[in-house]
Amino acid sequence: MEKKIAVIAGDGIGPEIVAQAVKVLDTVAKKYGHQFTYEPVDMGGVAIDRWGEPLPQAMLEKCLAADSVLLGAVGGPKWDTMPGHLRPEKGLLALRAGMGLYSNLRPAKLWQQLSAASPLKDVSKGIDFIVVRELIGGVYFGKHTTETVDGQQVATDTMSYSETEIERIGKIAFETARKRRKKVTSVDKANVLDTSRLWRAVMHRLAEQYPDVEYSDMLVDNAAMQLIKAPEQFDVIVTENMFGDILSDEASMLTGSIGMIPSSSMGEGTRGLFEPIHGSAPDIAGKDIANPVGTILSAAMMLKYSFGMEQEAAAIEQAVHTVLDKGLRTGDTMAEGCTQVSCTQMGDAIADCIGA
Ligand code: IPM
Ligand code: MG
Repeated sequence: MEKKIAVIAGDGIGPEIVAQAVKVLDTVAKKYGHQFTYEPVDMGGVAIDRWGEPLPQAMLEKCLAADSVLLGAVGGPKWDTMPGHLRPEKGLLALRAGMGLYSNLRPAKLWQQLSAASPLKDVSKGIDFIVVRELIGGVYFGKHTTETVDGQQVATDTMSYSETEIERIGKIAFETARKRRKKVTSVDKANVLDTSRLWRAVMHRLAEQYPDVEYSDMLVDNAAMQLIKAPEQFDVIVTENMFGDILSDEASMLTGSIGMIPSSSMGEGTRGLFEPIHGSAPDIAGKDIANPVGTILSAAMMLKYSFGMEQEAAAIEQAVHTVLDKGLRTGDTMAEGCTQVSCTQMGDAIADCIGA
């Protein structure tokens, strides 16, 4: 197959980790007879520096013209003092909204080789669940204002959800659960928020349409606790945008390192945005020590979800397995008896394994 992939290297460690994922994609293409072409796209801090805005319209259009989009990470201290609408993160949000990507899947799976890297004392029951995060609604996309009232500044962020927005992400969660262990936990704050009460009502309606899926509700504060107490209870967690942002970082750490976790963001079609869930890690940028696995696994998700290349995606996952078995680790997951490798060496090892 021929596929055009828009590639957003972004800021900080973005270019380093994306280079490794592209190398792995090239190996896959060679081995399985595909042709991938890459269209570089500026977004985030680099776009602010070069074009004066985090996501110029022409860049969004390049993404919309591609078959899928691979992203490293955006942001950094250099742009932290910029006004809200001129921050690198705004580019990411505009891209997600511009591409209509309402469904964000963030798998949290403990690779058994990384058990020692998990902060939990007993992970023998395994950790393997997926956070289904609503991505283009809620407080992230409500009206944001800062005004002066009675001589002091008052800031307001509005959170809203419509039934349609809740229902479409709910469906993704139930369908995802059907392909897994058939269990959905919907996380909300229905004891306080109207948006959560509507969320819960819509989820209950959907649950009736999926009688084969075990359904339960959980309040978000309890969910934060349950993730530490008994993470093995979860299969699919579905939640709104901000709760999903927070819980997916927590979930990722249970598996040893946020550097291992990929994500897919999709809308109605097959074109998606695939990125690791971590940020641009400016403190380690340019040192070739970042963990590229989250980005490489994001490329695997792209092959599977956007291009329907199941076998190719499995080959990447298998290669990650093999390389971890060999004891190769980047600094974030380094443990006794393992060999510490650079970002490039990790990418090479995974690519070599697929090519072999
Ligand atoms: C993520 C990130 C983003 C988010 C930031 C960079 C805007 O934390 O993808 O989880 O909050 O969605
Ligand atoms: Mg986040």
